[in-house]
Amino acid sequence: MNKQVCAIIGSQWGDEGKGKLVDILSQQYDIVARYAGGSNAGHTVVVNGEKFAFHLLPSGILHPEIICLIGNGVVLHLPTLFKELKTLEAKGIDFTGRLLISDRAHLLFDFHQIVDGLREEQLAGEKIGTTKKGIGPCYSTKALRINLRVGDLRFQKHFRENLKNNVEYMQKRYTFDYDLEAEMKRYEEYAGLLEPMITDTVDYLNQAYASGKNILIEGANATMLDLDFGTYPFVTSSSATIGGACTGLGLSPNKIDCSIGIVKAYTTRVGSGPFPTELTDELGNQIREKGHEYGTTTGRPRRCGWLDTVVLKYSHMINDFTSLNVTKLDVLDELEELKIAVSYSFQGKKLTAFPSNLEVLANVEVEYETMPGWKMDISKVKTFDELPEAARNYIKRIEELVGCPVKWIGVGPGREEMIER
Ligand code: GDP
Ligand code: IMO
Ligand code: MG
Repeated sequence: MNKQVCAIIGSQWGDEGKGKLVDILSQQYDIVARYAGGSNAGHTVVVNGEKFAFHLLPSGILHPEIICLIGNGVVLHLPTLFKELKTLEAKGIDFTGRLLISDRAHLLFDFHQIVDGLREEQLAGEKIGTTKKGIGPCYSTKALRINLRVGDLRFQKHFRENLKNNVEYMQKRYTFDYDLEAEMKRYEEYAGLLEPMITDTVDYLNQAYASGKNILIEGANATMLDLDFGTYPFVTSSSATIGGACTGLGLSPNKIDCSIGIVKAYTTRVGSGPFPTELTDELGNQIREKGHEYGTTTGRPRRCGWLDTVVLKYSHMINDFTSLNVTKLDVLDELEELKIAVSYSFQGKKLTAFPSNLEVLANVEVEYETMPGWKMDISKVKTFDELPEAARNYIKRIEELVGCPVKWIGVGPGREEMIER
């Protein structure tokens, strides 16, 4: 790779397989850093048949020599973090001294999760289909400037007053009970447990960079779920794209010299919102079952559809990917033919850019190219040249349409099931 700072970013609506590439590339890096989102993310790593699902922890944590860092842009639900750490401990993975948590990261409380659920209930038929992990409410209180940050755990009196104000603010708008005293007790305990991990990660990362350390940046959620660039309002509440890597870590854009776009070989989406290439027929079900397309965080069935290069070109424009990792190519093994979306039209006119308006997006006509399938098992293939011609052509067509080289191809969930070119 020879790139000092590299960001791994989801190019579609999430669950492209970011965790797997982060795990693989971690071996070449000193630090793996998460910059956005919270426990709405679910990143899967499969090592020797054993499956790990990370929600808050960076996916590099399985490598004993790597420092894992949770940046200021992340919203942190401490009960979830400690649960994840317990699972790791039970599996004999030692993380002592190698998990650093930003003192500027915002704390996500149980009441944020309660409000997330209540808000979804209110929206009824218009609901976003959130993970109910409290993401929107937490980022809202961050923007309102009434939330608490990790560093505030060090000042109990101030913590108590601000938590009380924060809860009261929400209780004026939503009806729910909250045992503030019990919550305070829990956080007093967390404060002690977290203390050794609390770090000024902005200073740490920049010093590490200056001393020549390699940094792998792990994206969560994805470009089409980005608060600004995604299919608003059916998005998450953070900046999942490359800009978020800078603001979520305190790293200058000049320091990021590589960004890898993770592209699922087809498209999936969890939750509501327009999805132009969605397959609502039997084929969609077939892809869901073959690809085990059920949410890592919520277990919800993922909506499935054809690969959409209109989405990918937009995503590439925003993130300026250095290269792509096409994942889950093996899931398409049995298909007779494949379709790739190449353009959208609205009211008879071809669109020249990805539409910002959902009324437009929900009503576009999609133009497809059809390509033959390869109808064989590719899960054991180790090199690009060994892939059947039709699979190679599919990859080459993605490169042409998106205008970006495909450097990795996933042919199975395991660490070793990755072709590198
Ligand atoms: P992330 O959120 O982007 O890290 O992705 P998820 O972990 O939520 O979802 C990706 C799923 O696909 C996980 O279950 C992975 O184990 C699995 N996966 C990743 N790459 C491949 C691949 O190349 N082939 C197959 N069959 N599964 C894959
Ligand atoms: P990873 O990192 C897939 C989706 C939710 C919902 C919308 C808003 O695993 O790729 P939120 O709870 O964030 O307020 O929900 O965003 N969503 C994801 N979908 N993968 C994710 O993360 C997601 N994170 C959020 O399903 O539609
Ligand atoms: Mg996921």
